[in-house]
Amino acid sequence: MKLIEVKDYHEMSQVAADYLLSNIKKSDKLTLGLATGGTPQGLYEALIQDHKENNTSYQHVSSFNLDEYIGLSGDQPNSYCHYMKENLFNHINIRSENTHIPSGKAVDLVGECKAYDHMIESCGGIDLQVLGIGSNGHIGFNEPGTSFDSETHIVELAQSTREANARYFDSTDEVPTHAITMGIATILKSKEILLLISGQAKQEALKKLMEGEVSEDFPASILNRHPNVTVIADEEALTLVEDLKQLNK
Ligand code: GLP
Repeated sequence: MKLIEVKDYHEMSQVAADYLLSNIKKSDKLTLGLATGGTPQGLYEALIQDHKENNTSYQHVSSFNLDEYIGLSGDQPNSYCHYMKENLFNHINIRSENTHIPSGKAVDLVGECKAYDHMIESCGGIDLQVLGIGSNGHIGFNEPGTSFDSETHIVELAQSTREANARYFDSTDEVPTHAITMGIATILKSKEILLLISGQAKQEALKKLMEGEVSEDFPASILNRHPNVTVIADEEALTLVEDLKQLNK
Protein backbone atom coordinates (compact mmCIF):
# COMPACT_ATOMS: atom_id res chain seq x y z
CA MET A 1 0.00 0.00 0.00
CA LYS A 2 1.47 3.32 -1.05
CA LEU A 3 0.72 6.31 1.20
CA ILE A 4 0.66 9.90 -0.08
CA GLU A 5 0.55 12.37 2.81
CA VAL A 6 -1.09 15.70 2.07
CA LYS A 7 -1.85 18.79 4.09
CA ASP A 8 -5.61 19.03 3.98
CA TYR A 9 -8.85 18.11 2.21
CA HIS A 10 -8.19 20.57 -0.60
CA GLU A 11 -4.77 19.11 -1.37
CA MET A 12 -6.12 15.56 -1.12
CA SER A 13 -8.79 16.41 -3.69
CA GLN A 14 -6.30 18.06 -6.05
CA VAL A 15 -3.76 15.22 -5.84
CA ALA A 16 -6.55 12.69 -6.42
CA ALA A 17 -7.84 14.68 -9.41
CA ASP A 18 -4.35 14.81 -10.94
CA TYR A 19 -4.05 11.06 -10.39
CA LEU A 20 -7.32 10.38 -12.22
CA LEU A 21 -6.61 12.90 -14.96
CA SER A 22 -3.25 11.37 -15.82
CA ASN A 23 -5.02 8.01 -16.25
CA ILE A 24 -7.87 9.58 -18.24
CA LYS A 25 -5.45 11.34 -20.58
CA LYS A 26 -3.10 8.42 -21.21
CA SER A 27 -5.72 5.76 -22.01
CA ASP A 28 -8.08 5.39 -24.96
CA LYS A 29 -10.53 3.30 -22.88
CA LEU A 30 -10.83 3.58 -19.12
CA THR A 31 -13.28 2.15 -16.61
CA LEU A 32 -13.48 4.03 -13.34
CA GLY A 33 -15.07 2.85 -10.11
CA LEU A 34 -16.61 5.82 -8.32
CA ALA A 35 -17.62 6.58 -4.75
CA THR A 36 -20.05 8.99 -3.17
CA GLY A 37 -20.14 10.71 0.23
CA GLY A 38 -18.39 13.85 1.38
CA THR A 39 -14.86 12.59 0.73
CA PRO A 40 -14.78 12.58 -3.11
CA GLN A 41 -16.78 15.79 -3.52
CA GLY A 42 -13.65 17.96 -3.75
CA LEU A 43 -12.11 15.52 -6.23
CA TYR A 44 -15.20 15.83 -8.46
CA GLU A 45 -15.10 19.64 -8.16
CA ALA A 46 -11.47 19.59 -9.30
CA LEU A 47 -12.34 17.34 -12.27
CA ILE A 48 -15.15 19.72 -13.28
CA GLN A 49 -12.81 22.70 -12.97
CA ASP A 50 -10.24 20.95 -15.15
CA HIS A 51 -12.91 20.07 -17.71
CA LYS A 52 -13.93 23.74 -17.91
CA GLU A 53 -10.37 24.96 -18.24
CA ASN A 54 -8.75 22.23 -20.33
CA ASN A 55 -11.69 20.50 -21.95
CA THR A 56 -10.39 17.07 -20.88
CA SER A 57 -12.61 14.53 -22.61
CA TYR A 58 -14.46 11.66 -20.90
CA GLN A 59 -15.90 10.20 -24.09
CA HIS A 60 -13.75 7.08 -23.67
CA VAL A 61 -14.49 6.72 -19.94
CA SER A 62 -17.03 4.36 -18.37
CA SER A 63 -17.92 4.34 -14.71
CA PHE A 64 -19.42 2.02 -12.14
CA ASN A 65 -20.52 3.40 -8.79
CA LEU A 66 -19.97 1.45 -5.63
CA ASP A 67 -23.43 1.56 -4.16
CA GLU A 68 -26.98 2.88 -3.97
CA TYR A 69 -29.68 3.09 -1.32
CA ILE A 70 -32.55 0.65 -1.66
CA GLY A 71 -35.92 2.31 -2.04
CA LEU A 72 -34.72 5.58 -3.56
CA SER A 73 -35.22 6.20 -7.25
CA GLY A 74 -32.49 7.87 -9.29
CA ASP A 75 -34.24 11.23 -9.36
CA GLN A 76 -34.64 11.48 -5.57
CA PRO A 77 -32.19 14.05 -4.16
CA ASN A 78 -30.57 11.66 -1.67
CA SER A 79 -30.00 8.86 -4.14
CA TYR A 80 -26.42 8.30 -5.19
CA CYS A 81 -27.59 8.44 -8.79
CA HIS A 82 -28.72 12.02 -8.22
CA TYR A 83 -25.50 12.80 -6.32
CA MET A 84 -23.35 11.62 -9.24
CA LYS A 85 -25.29 13.65 -11.79
CA GLU A 86 -25.19 16.79 -9.65
CA ASN A 87 -21.59 16.44 -8.49
CA LEU A 88 -19.95 15.17 -11.67
CA PHE A 89 -21.73 13.65 -14.65
CA ASN A 90 -23.80 16.71 -15.62
CA HIS A 91 -20.66 18.84 -15.78
CA ILE A 92 -18.32 16.72 -17.90
CA ASN A 93 -18.76 15.07 -21.30
CA ILE A 94 -19.04 11.46 -20.10
CA ARG A 95 -21.70 9.53 -22.08
CA SER A 96 -24.64 8.85 -19.79
CA GLU A 97 -24.98 5.33 -21.23
CA ASN A 98 -21.44 4.65 -19.98
CA THR A 99 -22.24 5.56 -16.36
CA HIS A 100 -23.56 2.77 -14.17
CA ILE A 101 -25.12 2.82 -10.72
CA PRO A 102 -27.04 -0.10 -9.23
CA SER A 103 -30.77 0.54 -9.11
CA GLY A 104 -32.19 0.71 -5.62
CA LYS A 105 -35.66 0.44 -7.10
CA ALA A 106 -35.18 -2.78 -9.07
CA VAL A 107 -38.07 -5.22 -8.61
CA ASP A 108 -35.63 -8.12 -8.63
CA LEU A 109 -32.83 -6.80 -6.42
CA VAL A 110 -30.89 -10.07 -6.39
CA GLY A 111 -31.02 -10.13 -10.19
CA GLU A 112 -29.86 -6.49 -10.22
CA CYS A 113 -26.79 -7.46 -8.16
CA LYS A 114 -25.86 -10.31 -10.51
CA ALA A 115 -26.41 -8.13 -13.57
CA TYR A 116 -24.18 -5.41 -12.11
CA ASP A 117 -21.23 -7.77 -11.60
CA HIS A 118 -21.80 -9.15 -15.07
CA MET A 119 -21.78 -5.66 -16.58
CA ILE A 120 -18.51 -4.79 -14.85
CA GLU A 121 -16.95 -7.94 -16.24
CA SER A 122 -18.23 -7.36 -19.77
CA CYS A 123 -16.71 -3.89 -19.64
CA GLY A 124 -13.32 -5.53 -18.98
CA GLY A 125 -13.27 -4.87 -15.22
CA ILE A 126 -12.55 -1.70 -13.29
CA ASP A 127 -9.20 -0.08 -14.08
CA LEU A 128 -9.16 2.43 -11.24
CA GLN A 129 -11.49 2.35 -8.24
CA VAL A 130 -11.91 5.44 -6.06
CA LEU A 131 -12.81 4.65 -2.46
CA GLY A 132 -13.70 6.50 0.71
CA ILE A 133 -13.87 4.77 4.07
CA GLY A 134 -16.48 4.69 6.81
CA SER A 135 -15.30 5.32 10.36
CA ASN A 136 -16.10 1.65 11.11
CA GLY A 137 -13.92 0.59 8.17
CA HIS A 138 -16.71 0.07 5.66
CA ILE A 139 -15.91 0.39 1.98
CA GLY A 140 -18.80 0.88 -0.40
CA PHE A 141 -21.54 -0.21 1.97
CA ASN A 142 -19.72 -3.35 3.08
CA GLU A 143 -20.20 -3.20 6.82
CA PRO A 144 -18.00 -5.02 9.37
CA GLY A 145 -18.54 -8.77 9.13
CA THR A 146 -19.06 -8.80 5.35
CA SER A 147 -17.39 -11.78 3.70
CA PHE A 148 -14.26 -10.98 1.73
CA ASP A 149 -15.71 -13.28 -0.96
CA SER A 150 -18.83 -11.15 -1.42
CA GLU A 151 -19.87 -9.90 -4.84
CA THR A 152 -22.47 -7.17 -5.41
CA HIS A 153 -25.16 -7.76 -2.79
CA ILE A 154 -27.84 -6.28 -0.58
CA VAL A 155 -26.84 -5.05 2.87
CA GLU A 156 -28.53 -3.83 5.99
CA LEU A 157 -26.82 -0.59 7.00
CA ALA A 158 -25.16 -0.30 10.40
CA GLN A 159 -26.84 2.22 12.70
CA SER A 160 -23.54 4.16 12.84
CA THR A 161 -23.54 4.44 9.03
CA ARG A 162 -27.15 5.63 8.97
CA GLU A 163 -26.30 8.21 11.63
CA ALA A 164 -23.20 9.36 9.74
CA ASN A 165 -25.23 9.78 6.55
CA ALA A 166 -28.22 11.40 8.28
CA ARG A 167 -26.67 14.80 7.57
CA TYR A 168 -28.00 14.51 4.01
CA PHE A 169 -31.54 13.64 5.17
CA ASP A 170 -34.09 15.36 7.40
CA SER A 171 -33.52 12.79 10.12
CA THR A 172 -31.79 9.44 10.76
CA ASP A 173 -35.16 7.70 10.38
CA GLU A 174 -35.30 8.84 6.77
CA VAL A 175 -31.98 7.19 5.90
CA PRO A 176 -32.81 3.93 4.11
CA THR A 177 -32.14 0.80 6.13
CA HIS A 178 -30.75 -1.18 3.20
CA ALA A 179 -28.46 -0.62 0.27
CA ILE A 180 -27.03 -2.44 -2.72
CA THR A 181 -23.25 -2.44 -2.84
CA MET A 182 -20.39 -3.86 -4.82
CA GLY A 183 -18.98 -6.66 -2.69
CA ILE A 184 -15.50 -6.84 -1.28
CA ALA A 185 -14.47 -9.38 -3.95
CA THR A 186 -15.90 -7.09 -6.64
CA ILE A 187 -13.88 -4.14 -5.33
CA LEU A 188 -10.74 -6.24 -4.98
CA LYS A 189 -10.90 -7.24 -8.66
CA SER A 190 -10.16 -3.60 -9.61
CA LYS A 191 -6.74 -3.31 -11.19
CA GLU A 192 -5.90 -0.28 -9.10
CA ILE A 193 -7.46 1.37 -6.03
CA LEU A 194 -7.23 4.95 -4.83
CA LEU A 195 -8.40 5.41 -1.24
CA LEU A 196 -9.09 8.95 0.00
CA ILE A 197 -9.07 9.70 3.73
CA SER A 198 -9.55 13.09 5.31
CA GLY A 199 -10.41 14.55 8.68
CA GLN A 200 -10.54 13.75 12.33
CA ALA A 201 -13.50 11.34 12.06
CA LYS A 202 -11.31 8.95 10.05
CA GLN A 203 -8.24 8.92 12.34
CA GLU A 204 -9.05 5.58 14.01
CA ALA A 205 -9.97 3.96 10.71
CA LEU A 206 -6.74 5.04 9.04
CA LYS A 207 -4.65 3.87 12.01
CA LYS A 208 -6.37 0.47 11.98
CA LEU A 209 -5.82 0.17 8.24
CA MET A 210 -2.12 1.02 8.52
CA GLU A 211 -1.59 -1.43 11.38
CA GLY A 212 -2.06 -4.07 8.71
CA GLU A 213 -4.13 -6.73 10.48
CA VAL A 214 -6.55 -8.19 7.94
CA SER A 215 -9.98 -9.09 9.32
CA GLU A 216 -13.58 -9.17 8.10
CA ASP A 217 -14.41 -7.12 11.22
CA PHE A 218 -12.71 -4.21 9.51
CA PRO A 219 -13.60 -4.45 5.79
CA ALA A 220 -11.03 -1.94 4.49
CA SER A 221 -8.22 -4.05 5.98
CA ILE A 222 -8.42 -6.35 2.94
CA LEU A 223 -6.84 -3.53 0.92
CA ASN A 224 -3.57 -4.55 2.56
CA ARG A 225 -3.70 -7.67 0.33
CA HIS A 226 -4.34 -5.82 -2.94
CA PRO A 227 -1.19 -5.30 -5.06
CA ASN A 228 -1.95 -1.78 -6.25
CA VAL A 229 -3.48 0.51 -3.63
CA THR A 230 -2.62 4.17 -3.12
CA VAL A 231 -3.92 5.97 -0.04
CA ILE A 232 -4.09 9.76 -0.08
CA ALA A 233 -4.56 10.98 3.48
CA ASP A 234 -4.47 14.42 5.04
CA GLU A 235 -2.66 15.57 8.18
CA GLU A 236 -5.74 15.47 10.35
CA ALA A 237 -6.59 11.90 9.40
CA LEU A 238 -2.94 10.90 9.87
CA THR A 239 -2.64 12.16 13.47
CA LEU A 240 -2.82 8.72 15.13
CA VAL A 241 -0.59 7.17 12.46
CA GLU A 242 2.06 9.78 13.25
CA ASP A 243 1.76 8.90 16.96
CA LEU A 244 2.25 5.24 16.02
CA LYS A 245 5.38 6.11 14.02
CA GLN A 246 6.81 8.04 17.02
CA LEU A 247 6.17 5.06 19.33
CA ASN A 248 7.92 2.67 16.94
CA LYS A 249 11.04 4.87 16.63
C1 GLP B 1 -20.79 6.10 2.75
C2 GLP B 1 -20.58 5.47 1.36
C3 GLP B 1 -19.16 5.09 1.15
C4 GLP B 1 -18.30 6.23 1.64
C5 GLP B 1 -18.37 6.29 3.14
C6 GLP B 1 -17.72 7.51 3.74
O1 GLP B 1 -21.77 5.50 3.52
N1 GLP B 1 -21.42 4.37 1.05
O2 GLP B 1 -18.92 4.79 -0.22
O3 GLP B 1 -16.97 6.05 1.26
O4 GLP B 1 -19.68 6.11 3.61
O5 GLP B 1 -18.48 8.65 3.56
P1 GLP B 1 -17.90 10.12 3.71
O6 GLP B 1 -16.95 10.30 2.59
O7 GLP B 1 -19.10 11.02 3.60
O8 GLP B 1 -17.25 10.18 5.04
